[in-house]
Order: sequence, then structure tokens, then C-alpha cells
Amino acid sequence: YHTLWCDDSNHDPETPLTRITGTLALSVFTAVLGSLQFGYNIGVVNAPQKIIEQDYNSTWMERYAEPIPPQTLTSLWSLSVAIFSIGGMLSSFSVGILSEFFGRRKAMLINNVLAFIGGGLMGMSKISRSFEMMILGRFTIGAYCGLASGLVPMYVGEIAPTTLRGALGTLHQLAIVTGILMAQILGLESLLGSEQLWPVLLGVTILPTVLQMTLLPFCPESPRFLYIVRSQEHHAKSALRRLTGRLEVSEDFAEMKEEKRKMDMERKVSIAELFRSPLYQQPIIISILLQLSQQLSGINAIFYYSTDIFKNAGVESPVYATIGAGVVNCAFTIVSLFLVERMGRRTLHMLGLAGMCICAILMTIALTLLETVPSMSYLSIMAIFGFVGFFEVGPGPIPWFFVAELFSQGPRPAAIAVAGCSNWTANFLIGMSFQYVANLCGPYVFLIFALLLLFFLVFTFFRVPETRGKTFDQISATFHRHPQNMMDMDLDMDQGKHSTELDYLGSDGT
Ligand code: GLC
Repeated sequence: YHTLWCDDSNHDPETPLTRITGTLALSVFTAVLGSLQFGYNIGVVNAPQKIIEQDYNSTWMERYAEPIPPQTLTSLWSLSVAIFSIGGMLSSFSVGILSEFFGRRKAMLINNVLAFIGGGLMGMSKISRSFEMMILGRFTIGAYCGLASGLVPMYVGEIAPTTLRGALGTLHQLAIVTGILMAQILGLESLLGSEQLWPVLLGVTILPTVLQMTLLPFCPESPRFLYIVRSQEHHAKSALRRLTGRLEVSEDFAEMKEEKRKMDMERKVSIAELFRSPLYQQPIIISILLQLSQQLSGINAIFYYSTDIFKNAGVESPVYATIGAGVVNCAFTIVSLFLVERMGRRTLHMLGLAGMCICAILMTIALTLLETVPSMSYLSIMAIFGFVGFFEVGPGPIPWFFVAELFSQGPRPAAIAVAGCSNWTANFLIGMSFQYVANLCGPYVFLIFALLLLFFLVFTFFRVPETRGKTFDQISATFHRHPQNMMDMDLDMDQGKHSTELDYLGSDGT
């Protein structure tokens, strides 16, 4: 056993809750293979754009005996890129239904069908001379990623011991950023980003799918799902024994029992209910705003268009600068992994937003002065690296697992669906509009992100509670007990430690 990553000042080091067993490690690893594909498919279209466009053109020539009109090519390419987020938007909405009907593990298993179809369609589109297949493939793989972006944090959050929930939750994001980096590197022309090999670059997403399908049968189903939703006490206990490596699990079980008792008294929570009930209004608004803070920070303007941004900022080898951004992205996610159980979610999220805001301002200064001071291109590289680094300290990993933390078993699936859908919608908006807005605003485009970041920083300061070290039951109880309370509550559940304030929106939403 290892006792890594946990805040020992919070817990007795002997407490079994802080241990990572082989089964827990295997289950988390297997689940985040889905996140790896999510990242891979975000990053994969950046580098080979020109080469794939040439193929679209030659297909057009074959069909219509004339070159493709530039406008049509731009539209076809934008569609190929952005339809991914539409797939994600639509599918993320069904995360709740699927995860309740099939269970978390089986839902992940079934989701792999979409990855096979998506990867297959994209990989075969060149020999089939069909950009329609490519577009459909991007849509299908987007649908896969939409489900994965909900199912993975849900499963990991449910099987993780309380003191490691943040650290293990961050592994979802670590797998995403690793996927992005792998795609950036494999996308180099000397590797798979060539005229011949780009179908392999896009189809290779099937490999982690095969691995996940092989490993999932060895992972236990979430004990919380088995017991709280399905009432299968015996199965839940044996899953818990495998995950904790202990025969005696009554302590962990007692907490689930309490949660089940409360849930059995509630009606089933639908998506509409989340917005109507004063009990859920506050956490759902916080969840949506956190997802928006992640996407409207402008991060994907970098990951979709960085090569172009670096070129405009006077950087000499934009492709390598893009890979540099990918490396910084991974490095800082690892930093967050080690900090999240020590410094807490709220502090790291605010630190990340504030740092990004400053970097966005620096970027604006660099772009404005570029004409007169050519060395400003260095400042812009530093600003973008800083922007990405600060993103991964908080706004990257935290919103994904925070939603699973804010809700108890009953409303959790519906909440994750709503939050996931907001994330994907905002992702789509940025992906579609960034280039247009950048043309319109010139060097001032990053100022828009700076303002948005400032808004989200203020929101987090006043409204977002700390969840570190608290059980699901404790977290949801704080919202349940004090639905009317405003801001000034200092609920300390950190066993004698002074916790950050728990802030609430008023029941009228103010
Ligand atoms: C987060 C975002 C994703 C983004 C990535 C960058 O996972 O959800 O849209 O591309 O971080 O690291």
C-alpha cells in the first residue's frame, strides 16, 4: 500500500481510507483510458489540418472535376473540427440515464462501441474517398468523449476514498492532457501527420478502447451504485473489500448506509428538479459556472488554434511551441495532483483563474507591441505557457470532479449530465467563434478572456465552497441544512482544522 497524496494532517496516517490498493489503481487506470481518448481527439486535428484539407480537395476534384471552393473547404474543415463538440454535447446529456440503467462500469464498456465506430469511420475515410465519413466519425468519437467525460469522473469519484478523491479525480484531467500531448507529437509530419499516415493518426484512438475493454471486467462496479441505487448490499460489500483491500469495511459502509437512508426518503431527482428544488439550485449553479469558467477561460482557443496564434505572435517554430504548450499542460496537471489534497479545490481554482487572467493581459500587451518591439514574441510564448500552466493548477482538473463531489448519490447523475452538457456547449462556442472574434478584435482578443476570468474569480471567491476531506454526505448536508444561508458561513468539518468558508447562493438565486 501507498499513502501518497493525502493530507496526513487531516487524517490519522493509519486510517485505512488513505490507501491505494492494486484494484483501486487498476480501476482508476482503466477508467481514465476513456479520458485519454478524450484528450487525444481534442488535440489530433491541430497539426494535420493542411494535409487532410488536401485530401478533401482531391475527393472534391474526383467527384465534381473542379477544385473545392475555398469557402466550402473552410466550412467542411470547421465542421469536421467542431462536430466533435456537438457529439459531446448531445451524448453528455444521457450520462445520467445510462449510468443508472447499466451501472457505471457497464456504461463505460458499452460506450466503447462508439469509439470503435468513430475511430473506424475516421480511419477508413481516406480510402473510401469520403469526407462525410470523416465528419460522421468525428461526431461519433465526440459522442464517445461526451459520455466518457461524465462516466469517468463519476466512477472515479465513487470508488475513491474520501481523502484521495481530489487527487484521483485529477487523474481524469492528467489522462486528458497526456492524450492531447500524444496527439500533438504523433501528429508531427515525420511521424503520423503525413499524407499517407493521417488515417492511422485518427484511427489509433481504437487502441486504448481495446485495452479498456480488456481490463474493465477485472474492475469492480462502484459500491455506492451497487448499494445506494441497486440495494445490493452483498455485492457492494465485496466490491468495497476489493477496493480497500480490507475484510472489515463496516466503517465505509456506514457512511453509504446513511446516504441511502436519506436518498430513500427523497424522490428521484430529474434534471428539471435540479433547477426547481432549493436544495439543488445552489450546487447546480456552482457546477455550471465552474464548467463555464473552465471553457470560457479560453483554453481551447490555445489547444485548437495554438499554431496559428504562435504564428501571429511572431514565433519562429509554431508547431514546436504548440508541443511546448502540451508539455507545460502535462507538467502543471501533475503539480495540481500533488496540491489538490493539501491546498484544497477552492484555493487552487482561484489561483489558477487569477494567474490565467494576468497571463491574458500579458498576452494582450505582447500582441499590441509586437509591431514595434519584435522581441515581444518571447513574452507571448511565456504568456501562453503561463496561461496553460495556471489552467492546469485549478480550472482544468477541478470542475470535472467537483460536480461529483457537490451532489449525493440521488442527484449526482443528473447533475453530471447538466454540467457536462454546459462544458461541451461552451467548448463548441469557443471552437466555432474564436477565429472570427480574433479577426474582429485583433490583439485585444485575450482581453475578453481576461474579463471573463476576473468574473469567474470573483464568483469562486464568494460562492464556491471547499469540499476537501469531506464525505459526500457531509457536503450535501451543508446545502441541505442551510439552503437560505448567505455567504458568511464557516462550516468546519475538517476535524479541528480551520476550513474555508462555505458560501451559498440565496434560495432566490441571488
Ligand atoms: C480540460 C477541458 C478540455 C481542454 C483540456 C486542456 O479537460 O475540458 O476542453 O481541452 O482541459 O487540457
